[in-house]
Amino acid sequence: MAKWIVGSAWPYVNTVPHLGNLVGSILSADVFARFLRLMGEDVVFVSGSDEHGTPIEIEAKKRGIEPKELTDKVHEYVKKMFEKWLISFDNYTRTHNPVHMEFVRETFMKIYNNGYIFTQDVIMPYCLKDKIFLPDRFIIGICPYCGAPDARGDQCERCGKLLDPPDLVNPKCALCGSRPIWKKTTHWFFDLPKASGGLIEWLEKSDLPTNVKKFTLNWIKEGLTPRAVTRDNKWGIPAPFPGAEGKTIYVWFEAVLGYLSAVKEIDDKKGTNLFEKFWKDVNSRPVYFIGKDNIPFHSIILPALLRASGEDYPLPYNISATEYLMFEGKKFSKRRRIGIWIDEALELLPNPDYWRFALIRMRPEERDTNFTWREFYRIVNSELNDDIGNFVHRVLTFIERRLGGEVSGKVDKNIFKRIKELHERYVKAMYKTREKEASNYLLEMARLGNKYLNEKEPWRLIKEGKEEEARDVMYTCLYILRELALHMAPFTPQAAERLWKMIGENGSVHESGRLLSSGAAPPTKIGEPEPLFQKLPKDFLDKVDEMLNEVRKKVEKQRPI
Ligand code: MF3
Ligand code: ZN
Repeated sequence: MAKWIVGSAWPYVNTVPHLGNLVGSILSADVFARFLRLMGEDVVFVSGSDEHGTPIEIEAKKRGIEPKELTDKVHEYVKKMFEKWLISFDNYTRTHNPVHMEFVRETFMKIYNNGYIFTQDVIMPYCLKDKIFLPDRFIIGICPYCGAPDARGDQCERCGKLLDPPDLVNPKCALCGSRPIWKKTTHWFFDLPKASGGLIEWLEKSDLPTNVKKFTLNWIKEGLTPRAVTRDNKWGIPAPFPGAEGKTIYVWFEAVLGYLSAVKEIDDKKGTNLFEKFWKDVNSRPVYFIGKDNIPFHSIILPALLRASGEDYPLPYNISATEYLMFEGKKFSKRRRIGIWIDEALELLPNPDYWRFALIRMRPEERDTNFTWREFYRIVNSELNDDIGNFVHRVLTFIERRLGGEVSGKVDKNIFKRIKELHERYVKAMYKTREKEASNYLLEMARLGNKYLNEKEPWRLIKEGKEEEARDVMYTCLYILRELALHMAPFTPQAAERLWKMIGENGSVHESGRLLSSGAAPPTKIGEPEPLFQKLPKDFLDKVDEMLNEVRKKVEKQRPI
């Protein structure tokens, strides 16, 4: 058994996440964490609100409020939403908490004392109208690499390259649109080239997926440069370096340390020793779930910071970087109201299992994928309802009505073998974070069950007086149901739990190590059969836009932002 640290990218709280954000990081991480627990692995699963940085400051400025006021409200709201989505965090915290802030300052002093920080005067854009320096997202311009017209001062969203404000062509203040002047300021720099010594070797040897490896090695080959760690912004974590009073730490350089501090915070609250156990062991396995634009921060910056701190922290074991989810062929856009947000989704259809399953089925695992209502309808109605729900219902009502709710017998050898194969492929895919692929094997189990039942026709067997044979068939079907419940559990936690009870099982399907009981015999006395899922109505596709409009009006009133 290994020790796994599961992390998902920390969302900025300048907005409520949309379905694309959710599937790319938090939902995928949750499915993985749930799977690992089912395998009896040691897991700690953390994330939190990314509260600092220019996206938040800009939003607060627009509203004429303090950043803290904004992040307090949005953090609480988003945190509650994740609970409704059944995200099983061990800690969902925030970067403006004292444990994190102290941990960041301590770690940066270690990095400083180890000789990885130096100061340098730089010329930075300054807005005369807003009277502030313009780092990161405070400034936009043309990307010097790919020509995107709206690259930001820290990164170009289109090509993913990390930038510095002077790199931008034709830069403008993001707040007022005016042309900045250039002004001298002093910053503390992280010596990335020095700290990344040895990282190429680690990367090449690592099992990181090819998209992450390629992007990162490319970037290293182009030449790493020192990066400014400090900012002139007020909002953030005060830089701890001697002489750096009034400066704060660049948001990315502190947020990534949240994966560590969030574990520490659990210990502070509960008196546990998880930090020692998980982070102070080089053999632990940190796995990060992020959107592809976050790759460089997790594959280089974070490992380099960890190394430079001189502590023996484990480097990333895996980084699951998803491509983008589109909405009906377009990019999600808050401004143009294209897409669905996580609060709207549950208002439209309150059962999180439907959304969780549909999103994993559309997970942009290898390439960009497209959320369409048609596809959503198909997944809910034909995969969840026909393939899984129908099979469950047919088996349980048959056992209830024809066999008095009790059945035992021999499990068909061929079915046993095929389920075992599917189980093994499922486990392998899951460990590799290929969750969409794993969900295929779950569906294959259900289809196998339906086909078996149709071929064996136990109702005919009973009519022909072959009752024992009919019992073997139904016991085999019950066996498949047990396997379905186990393999559904990471995707649709509620439905899996209900199915677990319906087949007469004890305890919770989510108990640690439960998936290791795959292959075991099912109980012989079933519980009360109930429909597991419900179909979307026939006119769903005609009505959904209208329904979403109604939902939007309602949600807008509850939203803090
Ligand atoms: N807030 C960043 C984003 O939304 C992600 C930060 S991930 C962290 O793109 F690890 F740095 F926190
Ligand atoms: Zn670019």
